Amino acid sequence: GLFARAQSAHAGHDRTASAIQTVSVADLTGPREGEADRQFTLTAQKATVRLSSGKTMEAWTFNGQYPGPELRIKQGELVEVVLENKDIADGVTIHWHGLNVPNAEDGVAGATQDAVLPGETHVYRFYANQAGTFWYHSHQQASVQVRKGLFGTLVVEPAASTEGAESSIRDLTVIHHKPKGEGATINGADTLLMQTVSPGTPVRLRFINAENMPITYQLCGTPFQVVAIDGNDVNEPNLIANQALQLGAGGRYDLYFTMPDRPVLFASAGKGKTAEKGLLLSPDGSGEVPALQEGVPLFDPARYGAPMTLPFDLRTPFDREYEMLFDVAFGMYDGRFEGLWTINGKVFPDTPMMMVAEGDLVKVTFVNRSFMDHPMHLHGHHMLVLTRNGKPVTGSPWWTDTLNVAPGETYEVAFRADNPGLWMDHCHNQDHASLGMSMHLLYE
Ligand code: C2O
Ligand code: CU
Repeated sequence: GLFARAQSAHAGHDRTASAIQTVSVADLTGPREGEADRQFTLTAQKATVRLSSGKTMEAWTFNGQYPGPELRIKQGELVEVVLENKDIADGVTIHWHGLNVPNAEDGVAGATQDAVLPGETHVYRFYANQAGTFWYHSHQQASVQVRKGLFGTLVVEPAASTEGAESSIRDLTVIHHKPKGEGATINGADTLLMQTVSPGTPVRLRFINAENMPITYQLCGTPFQVVAIDGNDVNEPNLIANQALQLGAGGRYDLYFTMPDRPVLFASAGKGKTAEKGLLLSPDGSGEVPALQEGVPLFDPARYGAPMTLPFDLRTPFDREYEMLFDVAFGMYDGRFEGLWTINGKVFPDTPMMMVAEGDLVKVTFVNRSFMDHPMHLHGHHMLVLTRNGKPVTGSPWWTDTLNVAPGETYEVAFRADNPGLWMDHCHNQDHASLGMSMHLLYE
């Protein structure tokens, strides 16, 4: 039973086009005509990369870099990305994590396109309609390829930025990743990174979790605001201090602060509670490192910022309601005894499919009955968190595309079905996704 199903789930993430043929993605492409405002070429290739400690690593990269090059775009621009595959044998794709692009540009092998084989190219074209912090990664055998290094950061800057104010901001990206068999890295470095920032400079720090597990960082040495979650602005973000930031796999927090005249450290605690890796911002380049603190409470996105009018009238009935129970079952998989990650007792592709019609207001309840975190990532849409463990969100509307559902937790979320196609909704612990915990959202 479960064995055969997990095998086909594995195949579902591979090159073979999906068995589901109800939606023709040919009608759901981005603009094929017109000159692009931004053009990038990303070449998937094997490379030996040297980490900041001097250690070398055999990686799968975009353009020979680990992580791949940062793509910076302005909101509203027409973006064209040419993906070339030099030598990744099983093929690659690129998924624009958190950007709601037309379905055929979403980069999911086996669902929206075939994987791009060595010597082949594929062109993605879409408008970057949302400003915010995103990332991109291969969506072919993602549990292997993302860990190998086929990912990078994607920043969409607001279109209407007042030039002067914008240019004085230090805009820094911090992407946390863990290659298989290695220690974690930030921005590809395995040691503490230092940058000099003059006191008084406004700093925007874009924090991205490209790992499979939740991570916890501290920003030491300054009060700060969490100005965006998963690329969505927080309404009236208040100034906080001494709160640790726990971020689920695939998620993003944007932090904002004014550089003080003392050093600021953004790091996760290592063994013995000292920062081994992270980003040190120094006013004078002196390398003095502030200490991480013990017993710091966690930032709570459900109670942060100020409420505001919602785009949904929650008194009207939902058009569709789904309940998804996450659990674990044990069975043979690839010749090994494995935990299979189930949704309503099934593994992909036998997991429930969410069927919607365009315009529907959809409510989904996630219940985690297993012993591990499941960061649920919905492609092509943003979810509004309504309740966590039965309690309504009391702060700013909390929009997310990757919601970490911890063991024992229950969340209710809502989204508007406004982007037709066949979409993935899966756990962003990529190992769980490849061992069953994936499902489809399909427009009828
Ligand atoms: Cu970031 Cu379906 O993935
Ligand atoms: Cu999971």
